[in-house]
Amino acid sequence: SRPSSFSQQECSSDLWSDEENGDINWDNLGFGLVPTDYMYVMKCSRDDRFSSGELNRYGNIELSPSSGVLNYAQGLFEGLKAHRRGDGRGFLLFRLEENAKRMQMGAERMCMPSPSTDQFVHAVKQTVLANKRWVPPRGKGSLYVRPLLIGSGPILGLAPAPEYMFLVYAAPVGTYFKEGLAPINLFIETEIHRATPGGTGDVKTIANYAPVLKAQMRAKAKGLTDVLYLDSVNKRYLEEASSCNLFMVKDNIIATPATDGTILRGITRKSIIELARDLGYQVKERLVSIDDLIAADEVFCTGTAVVVAPVSSITYGDQRYEYKTGAETVSEKLYKALTAIQMGHVEDKKGWTVEI
Ligand code: COI
Repeated sequence: SRPSSFSQQECSSDLWSDEENGDINWDNLGFGLVPTDYMYVMKCSRDDRFSSGELNRYGNIELSPSSGVLNYAQGLFEGLKAHRRGDGRGFLLFRLEENAKRMQMGAERMCMPSPSTDQFVHAVKQTVLANKRWVPPRGKGSLYVRPLLIGSGPILGLAPAPEYMFLVYAAPVGTYFKEGLAPINLFIETEIHRATPGGTGDVKTIANYAPVLKAQMRAKAKGLTDVLYLDSVNKRYLEEASSCNLFMVKDNIIATPATDGTILRGITRKSIIELARDLGYQVKERLVSIDDLIAADEVFCTGTAVVVAPVSSITYGDQRYEYKTGAETVSEKLYKALTAIQMGHVEDKKGWTVEI
C-alpha cells in the first residue's frame, strides 16, 4: 500500500509503477475534477522562506476560518500540463519555469513569500510522478497540474497572513470547453470588467476569477461558450476571455491585446506569438478594438487549459459575427505546431519541454 506522506528524498520515480492505470473512462475526459492520489505541500511563515515540502495523500486541508485566503483572497494559482510520451518513456512538462516565475511575480504583488524556481519545479515533478497512473493515455488528454500559493495563517485586520502554504495537486483532463475541439462562441461583455489599471489583472490571483462568474453565467444562459472582456476605461478595447487570452487574424497578420497590466501574461500566449513568428506570420501586440475584432477573418483563444480554441462567432449586443474556422486556418496551424511540441511529436528545438 502507498504511504500517506513521505519526504522529498524518499520520493523517486520508481517508487511504484504506473501499470495500474487510474480507474476512469479515458474516452470521456472533460475538465471536471477527477481526484488523484497525492498532493505536494510546503509551508512557511510570513518572515521566512519556504524550505522543504512533502507529498501527502490528496485530500482536504485544514484552514483557520480567519485565514488570509478565505477572508481577503490572498492567493495565487498556476496551471500546467503533463503529457504521456508512450512506450514507457515518461512524461513531458511544458515551460514550468515560466509558471514558477509568474508565481513569484504574483507573490510579490500579493505580499506573499513564494517558492524558488527550483522548489516549484521539484514540487511539480514530484506531484506528476506520484500521480503518474492518472496521466491519460496518449491522445486522450493530459494531467493538469494546479499549484496554489495561499495565505493560510489567521488574520482579522487586513494585512498579509502570518503563514503560507504552497500546494500542488493534479487531475487528468481532456478538453476545457464542452465543445471539445470544435469552435467556440463568445459574447462581448459591456458591463462587467475583469480588470482595472493598477489592479491585479496581470497576475494569476484567485481574486480575478470569481468576479467574472456572473458574466460567464449570463453568456452560458444565452447558449454561448464564454465571455470577452473590454477595458474598463475606454470600454472599447478587448482584453481577454474568462480563462484565456485572445488573438485575431486579419489579412494574415496576427494581433493580440498588449499586456499592459490588465491582461494575464499567458505562457501559451507567449509561446503562440513565438511559434507564429517562426512560421513567418507578423504578430502585433497592440490595442485591439471592438471594430478590429468585428472586421477580423479569424479569432482564437489560447491558454493552458484551453490550448488553442478557434472562435466561430462573437455576439456583441444583438449582432452575431462569424469567423473562419477549420482546416487551413492560422489557428489550426498554430494548434498543431504547439501541441506537437507539448506532446513530443516533434523534436523540441526550443527547449520548452522537460522530460521526467
Ligand atoms: C489555465 O488555463 O491553466 C487556467 O488557469 C485557466 C483556468 C480558469 C482553468
